[in-house]
Amino acid sequence: MAEQKHLSYVDTVNFGSYYTPSCIVDMVYALIQKNIPKWADFRIVDTSCGYGNFLRVPNSVGADCDEKAIEVARKQANNCQFYCHNSLVDIDRKQYGLSENDRVIIVGNPPYNDVTSIIRNGIKSEMCMVDREIKHRDMGISFLLSYEKLKVDYICVLHPLSYLIKKANFVSLCAFKDNYKLIDSVIISSGEFQATSKTTHFPIIVALYKHDKIGMDYNFIQNYVFKTANNKAFKIASFDKLCNYVTKYPNHKCLSLDDSVAFFWTMRDINALKRTKTFIEREIYSSIRVPKEKLSLYCYADVFKEYIPHVPYYFGNSDVMIDFDSFKRIEKSFLRKSLSKYSFLKGLLQEGEVTEGDILNINIYFQNLLGEHYVDKRAE
Ligand SMILES: C[S@@+](CC[C@H](N)C(=O)[O-])C[C@H]1O[C@@H](n2cnc3c(N)ncnc32)[C@H](O)[C@@H]1O
Repeated sequence: MAEQKHLSYVDTVNFGSYYTPSCIVDMVYALIQKNIPKWADFRIVDTSCGYGNFLRVPNSVGADCDEKAIEVARKQANNCQFYCHNSLVDIDRKQYGLSENDRVIIVGNPPYNDVTSIIRNGIKSEMCMVDREIKHRDMGISFLLSYEKLKVDYICVLHPLSYLIKKANFVSLCAFKDNYKLIDSVIISSGEFQATSKTTHFPIIVALYKHDKIGMDYNFIQNYVFKTANNKAFKIASFDKLCNYVTKYPNHKCLSLDDSVAFFWTMRDINALKRTKTFIEREIYSSIRVPKEKLSLYCYADVFKEYIPHVPYYFGNSDVMIDFDSFKRIEKSFLRKSLSKYSFLKGLLQEGEVTEGDILNINIYFQNLLGEHYVDKRAE
């Protein structure tokens, strides 16, 4: 199984050319074999095939916009058909030599990079073109939409879990979510890809979708039981979210300066919280004004950040979770734990400095909140 070797760092980033290790391709075929009766009767197609790592059966079809990758693929799998083109324009079965009657399974690992952050050096502009109907700032979402246009029977691909669990992404899946249903899946870590292992890991879903007239709504996703490669299972709906109680975004228009007691960095998902600041001394355009009655909840977010090492990678793109009733019972512990850290917030600390009892309360709180998902650093 070949690792990508021919591209510079910049082109690797631009094309999202992180090729898939064979143990993960195995997962795709395991899902196909388990769920698709007579799967060998289908045409297997990868519209972003790289060296063709996913094309394991004769008569499969591969396409890529990278000429050199297609050259290597042709040598490796001479019983498959290959096309060198941009798969996100003029989408049609004819592009792949497929007829309307062919039953098709899409496989692969489409690039998932944000097109607005593409490092433009040396990239031909026609390679960055995307049909208007499937345009999205994330190329991976455009690829999912392109599969729907090909009216395929099944889609078994890797993509960030955030496409499903972040509501804004889910909504942008438009015709894809209305016509396909997730029928089986496995969650893996982005750390499985060597080239990306230095960055913060995020969850990737190896997902099998079936053509379905009813499709999926967001409620379906929230109640879907996701299983990880290490035999954990979770449901998004099992957790309450901090953003049900506080605003995550700048609220300058809704709250006056006089009514705020502190400033907090914009909150996004757990991986973002890991990288960003929490309380800041001075207000900036993107900070949140914290009203007194919500201070303890922002202290909660600040303490949550400290406990992120106990949160598994598969919650990396989830919102900060909270068990509100348990939090309320030890609210003062959170206030003391957080406010004691910041000299500019000490004035708000009416309860005295943080105690050992507070730390114990908070440790137990996070163990209970995460339950079987709690990552015990001592056990690793
Ligand atoms: C993550 S790699 C996957 C390669 C291969 N399927 C594998 O997993 O080993 C993504 C591939 O998408 C290709 N690609 C990016 N944009 C494309 C486009 N618009 N049309 C066709 N291929 C594209 C890249 O050249 C790269 O080979």
